Amino acid sequence: MNNWCLNVFRKSHLIATLALISAASSHAADSAKAPDLTKARQIAETVCAACHSADGNSTGPANPKLAGQIPEYLHKQLRNFKGLDGKDNARQTGGQAGVMVGMVAALGEQDLQTLAIYYGGQTLKPEKVSGKREDLDLGQRLWRAGDMSKGLPACAGCHGPTGAGLPSQYPRLSGQFAAYTEAQLKLFRNGERSNDPNRMMRTIAAKMSDAEIKAVADYAAGLR
Ligand code: HEC
Ligand code: HEC
Repeated sequence: MNNWCLNVFRKSHLIATLALISAASSHAADSAKAPDLTKARQIAETVCAACHSADGNSTGPANPKLAGQIPEYLHKQLRNFKGLDGKDNARQTGGQAGVMVGMVAALGEQDLQTLAIYYGGQTLKPEKVSGKREDLDLGQRLWRAGDMSKGLPACAGCHGPTGAGLPSQYPRLSGQFAAYTEAQLKLFRNGERSNDPNRMMRTIAAKMSDAEIKAVADYAAGLR
């Protein structure tokens, strides 16, 4: 390489390096900056509040509590209500899913993301413990150990010992309305809800009786 060539090479190398450094530092600044949740809060207060309350502690058992839920899970559900990830992942039929299909229709991806972060960041007011003692004992057994005799795995294995869920795939179930949890298990059992990756929940719910579903739903509502 002659001198002129070397100079050009050095110069362009320097420019490329500087470009890389500035790209890296602006990226770092972006990810360090908390997302702006002003618009999400506005949507929550004006649209979602009627059923989920502005703080995500919903008004009735048909409407799941969103407060303290794992944000990635909430985001996935909102995309599934919109049918964005294909038919296999859609959550558009069965139970009350149709209500949510209407709710997300006008929202863009940015809204779905920030709403998930907003609601995930609210403080859950858990349901009170309800149900009969024998049922709660059955619920606790299923939660902690499953039922080996029919190949039913422990809920705790994926939803955590205290039901707080495991980021990012496994939702929180503790403190949720028992009636909602029960309804979702029945939807998985009859295949009307089919957005569970690898059929995880459909396979599990298929092995459960009505009584077991109710017992474990009551138990999860009282978990802290
Ligand atoms: C008219 C009542 C209503 C309104 C308003 C409403 N929702 Fe819902 N939402 C529901 C119902 C009912 C379900 C349960 C659907 C089912 O049974 O599958 C639900 C479910 C959800 C879920 C799934 C939670 C889970 O645990 O899987 C999310 C996330 C959600 N709503 C977010 C929102 C957001 C964000 C808004 C505002 C843009 C909103 N909802 C507005 C009634 C409502
Ligand atoms: C192998 C892992 C695994 C096990 C074990 C498991 N789950 Fe799940 N569960 C999941 C996943 C993954 C989802 C999220 C599905 C989705 O993305 O919509 C889920 C979702 C759910 C939901 C829906 C929550 C909501 O907010 O709508 C309920 C209810 C539920 N599980 C109950 C149970 C119960 C009760 C047990 C024990 C009998 C159990 N699960 C065991 C993986 C598991």
